Amino acid sequence: MPSNDALNAHQFLPVDTTIPDPSLVIMIGAAGAGKSTWASTWPDTQVLELDRFRALVSDDPGCQEATGDAVFALQAVLEARLSRRKMTIVDSTNCDQKVRADLIATARLHGMSTVALVIGTPASVCVDRQKSRPANRRVPEAIVRDQHAAMVDAFARLPAEGFDHVVVAENIHRLEALLQRASDTRRADLGWDSGDGLGDLLLVRRVLGTEILPLWRWRVGADLADGDRVGEIRLGPDRMILALRVDVDGEGDIWFDLLVACPYDDDCDAPAWQAVHSVSDLLAAHTNSTGSHPDAVCTVHTDALRP
Ligand SMILES: Nc1ncnc2c1ncn2[C@@H]1O[C@H](COP(=O)(O)OP(=O)(O)OP(=O)(O)O)[C@@H](O)[C@H]1O
Ligand SMILES: [Mg+2]
Ligand SMILES: [Zn+2]
Repeated sequence: MPSNDALNAHQFLPVDTTIPDPSLVIMIGAAGAGKSTWASTWPDTQVLELDRFRALVSDDPGCQEATGDAVFALQAVLEARLSRRKMTIVDSTNCDQKVRADLIATARLHGMSTVALVIGTPASVCVDRQKSRPANRRVPEAIVRDQHAAMVDAFARLPAEGFDHVVVAENIHRLEALLQRASDTRRADLGWDSGDGLGDLLLVRRVLGTEILPLWRWRVGADLADGDRVGEIRLGPDRMILALRVDVDGEGDIWFDLLVACPYDDDCDAPAWQAVHSVSDLLAAHTNSTGSHPDAVCTVHTDALRP
């Protein structure tokens, strides 16, 4: 059975860890080998992931029927990037010699160096990893094993195929690049890169997520919530008002209370608050906006006064 040992057997070849910048990096590895995980160590815009192009043309990253259109779209972006001499990583299995030959030819056309980045994860591990995937992303065992065998079989011939560098992923240090990118993002969020940073929006992001940020405004001077800060989410005619709650005595918990109608009395105008701990709570409250909020607490109808 072909395994990682088969790659190691070829290690009499000198170990090459060179990935020039710019270059075209062509990942080679079976489904589940970890290609996308390695690819995530490069900036998003540099990575052309075939599954992503399948999703862009069909809404389904696992749609094999869409492969032709996905390859066509990927190829267009690839050409545009290489003509600008931009570092580019192709994240797909590339276990087929013909597919690699086309990619190398495209790089040559633009005078770009080519790197084969081989992800030699054992076939049994790749197969195992399929089990935890959603059905539309699960690749049958026989195909995974064929891809792995093709990768092992091709390994020694990759230099002859025209690759300028053949690099085995297990030999390269990419953790620093990943940590650097994560750290840069954090510093920008905090404004430590001399930008504005997210400031108070960090709290909003922590509870409700990134998607809400463009819609969020703090309401200055609003005294709806006993001195707690109030903000609103607004998009066209849709509007939600929320108060920031901080549990100072407890674990430092942070959540929002959404302003809703009193659940006890249709004629009550007093503010009532519905706790919102996540964007899912927010969705539930929004889709329920014409109904009642049974968990809401009215500021007038305290427990003692409840009908
Ligand atoms: N170094 C690693 N250690 C542990 N788990 C890993 C490692 N690399 C990847 N994985 C896990 O293996 C699974 C598959 O990884 P990934 O999605 O990167 O594979 P892939 O080669 O891109 O697969 P596909 O070809 O199907 O897109 C993921 O669940 C990931 O968390
Ligand atoms: Mg992947
Ligand atoms: Zn009330």
